[in-house]
Amino acid sequence: MAILEPLSIECTSHSESQTQRLGARLGALLPRHAVIALHGPLGAGKTSFARGVGIGWGAEQPLRSPTFTLVQAHHRQHDDATLYHIDLYRVEDARELVNLGLEEILDDENGVCLIEWPERAAALIPAEAIHVKLAPLDDTHRHMTFSTSDAQTWQILLAFRKSAFGV
Ligand SMILES: Nc1ncnc2c1ncn2[C@@H]1O[C@H](COP(=O)(O)OP(=O)(O)OP(=O)(O)O)[C@@H](O)[C@H]1O
Ligand SMILES: [Mg+2]
Repeated sequence: MAILEPLSIECTSHSESQTQRLGARLGALLPRHAVIALHGPLGAGKTSFARGVGIGWGAEQPLRSPTFTLVQAHHRQHDDATLYHIDLYRVEDARELVNLGLEEILDDENGVCLIEWPERAAALIPAEAIHVKLAPLDDTHRHMTFSTSDAQTWQILLAFRKSAFGV
């Protein structure tokens, strides 16, 4: 069942390491085929959050800013799942998304996708996506919003809230 009003959780991160820890909490809860859309301006902390997701998910290699490759695939030891870290900042038109194989990546049943600058591919982002918005308040504080418009995905966010904030 789809939910019309997006459900959301809000908090303030006080440091890069806190943002990363929140990412790790969410990363540990992600099922296959999950999509996280990371919104926010340059330097908001999207990659910091993604790095934490990689840790929580169990990626063998640390996630880095994927600016030059656009897509970086990560693996973990205990299964054949793939974590795709995608940065669409440099994408200028839909043809580039085709060349990138973004649709195929999103179709990968064993894949989890982390997408920075998802606005560049808005039409391809599924309704089941978890949206994470980072808004800089000052040098070290970021307002964070976690939302989804999908009821099943909301259950993941409720588990995340419990894990991260105990409520
Ligand atoms: N609370 C915070 N959370 C995350 N990053 C923070 C925070 N406070 C300060 N920072 C700093 O902000 C910067 C975030 O960089 P990061 O590469 O994660 O941003 P980004 O959103 O991925 O940028 P880009 O759009 O260039 O990819 C880092 O230099 C980090 O140290
Ligand atoms: Mg980044």
